[in-house]
Amino acid sequence: MAEPFNLCALRALCGEILWLCVEGGGMAAYDAYLGEVLLDAATVQRRVSELARHISDDYRDRKPLLVCVLKGGIVFLVDLIKHIDIPHAIDFMAVSSYGAGARESTGAVRIIMDLEQDIAGRHVLLVEDIVDSGRTLHYIYNLLKPRGPASLRVCALLNKVERREIDVALDYVGFDIPNKFVFGYGLDLDELFRNLPFVGVLKDELLPT
Ligand code: IMP
Ligand code: MG
Repeated sequence: MAEPFNLCALRALCGEILWLCVEGGGMAAYDAYLGEVLLDAATVQRRVSELARHISDDYRDRKPLLVCVLKGGIVFLVDLIKHIDIPHAIDFMAVSSYGAGARESTGAVRIIMDLEQDIAGRHVLLVEDIVDSGRTLHYIYNLLKPRGPASLRVCALLNKVERREIDVALDYVGFDIPNKFVFGYGLDLDELFRNLPFVGVLKDELLPT
């Protein structure tokens, strides 16, 4: 027999309330890790749209291929292309350099997923979340350069200058930041919190000693 309508509605409402509780708890959970907000959402958005304007000007008539370095670069890429007003394509590659739980690069970079498109003769712009030691970017650059792109340049949202071990050329930089472990806006803390709209600094006491 069909349930009376009000019972169905009550069940749906309970489900909704439960979902809100779980979601709300999930969003608030970052508080326990956040030392300070380094770059608030408005500041990030302003800079991303500025970068998009420069890229649009520099690549007019070149149909660039924007290569997002997963996973960290995904939020940055998505916001960036919303503001790029010239024809362009996107592609993805994934590399790994930080183990789960690590706060420092292991130094060993490996490719997990390669590009779908052939980049020979294309104007390629790498879109990275953060350049730290420079090892990841150095590895990707050396992997892609021999494939014969017409140009190969780099756009990084964050640049931890003090940490550089390998010299890498950055063509577009969102922000130079201090040597702190950051998360949010695509950057993870043990795979969590990539969805935060701001860039936050991890509490000092949570860094491994
Ligand atoms: P690099 O090879 O040392 O330059 O490290 C680059 C990669 O490490 C970045 O693409 C990030 O995925 C990750 N990474 C470096 N610093 C941070 C950080 O402060 N928070 C989160 N991830 C980071
Ligand atoms: Mg990255």
